[in-house]
Amino acid sequence: MTDTTSSPTPEPSSGWREIHDQNRRSWNAITPVHNSHKRDQAAFLRNGGTTLFPDELELLGDLARKRLVHLQCNCGQDTLSLAAAGADVLGVDISDDAIAFAEQLSADSGIPARFVRSDLFDWFDGTDERFDVAFTSYGGVGWLCDLDRWARGIARVLVPGGRLVFLEFHPLVWSYTKDGTFGDSYFLADEIREDEGVSDYVGAPLAPSGFESGVRDYKNPERAVSFQWTAAQIVQSLVDAGLRLDVMREYPYTNGCEVFEGMTPLPDRRFGMPEGLPTMPLMLGLVASKPGATTG
Ligand SMILES: C[S@@+](CC[C@H](N)C(=O)[O-])C[C@H]1O[C@@H](n2cnc3c(N)ncnc32)[C@H](O)[C@@H]1O
Repeated sequence: MTDTTSSPTPEPSSGWREIHDQNRRSWNAITPVHNSHKRDQAAFLRNGGTTLFPDELELLGDLARKRLVHLQCNCGQDTLSLAAAGADVLGVDISDDAIAFAEQLSADSGIPARFVRSDLFDWFDGTDERFDVAFTSYGGVGWLCDLDRWARGIARVLVPGGRLVFLEFHPLVWSYTKDGTFGDSYFLADEIREDEGVSDYVGAPLAPSGFESGVRDYKNPERAVSFQWTAAQIVQSLVDAGLRLDVMREYPYTNGCEVFEGMTPLPDRRFGMPEGLPTMPLMLGLVASKPGATTG
């Protein structure tokens, strides 16, 4: 683990860089803990295993020879699964430990991919590369403090006809407590202080290579700051950045994560609402494209 000495949570008045950098420290601290729960991931990937769910694969479509950037790629398990599905991939993430892990996993699994450690906003501003597909999923956008900057960055790095593929937990989910009571406003103007830092949320459904008990009762010494972006804010930011919304989906289940206690296990590592409760949107899927020629 690197750089895990505790730091004060940046105040809301802090600049975006300080906030993102604090999140980097929190992700660095939790990365080895998350991976401690996942059995031999390199062998799993080398033997043809995938960490991707059917829903993102359906939104992504054919990946053969597509230039794909995986935004906030974490430790690269999905990035390498995308590479194994035929894409030419670059993963970008702010966490030093996550990117180091991803590079090692690529070498150990024999699946080629490139990784860059960078704040997403810096990478958007600095890169000359252009992509057919930008992919982001499950717990990405809520760590970013400026949605319009995010959307403009995506529009910048796509070729004309290129597509953003987005699959996230539906923001409404975070208004409920674990026991399913309505706890927080859906519309939140301020940052959310995560004083306990990024949590150890990895359970068996997020460890398709096999679950290990690994590190237990870990307390993250690094606080974090997150953001509640609503569905409309996300869509509007993409439209304002000049992207065209092609697909918008809401799903009555989550992938890999029991966001409420007592959820109903479904095939493919999915979870439906707890029995007896009404349905609500649990994931949000979007495809948005940059106007221009299609990339075929
Ligand atoms: C929940 S994980 C995303 C998991 C990802 N969907 C996957 O394929 O494993 C969130 C990631 O966002 C990254 N992150 C947070 N803030 C970031 C920023 N400002 N720039 C780039 N990456 C960031 C974290 O380091 C972490 O790896």
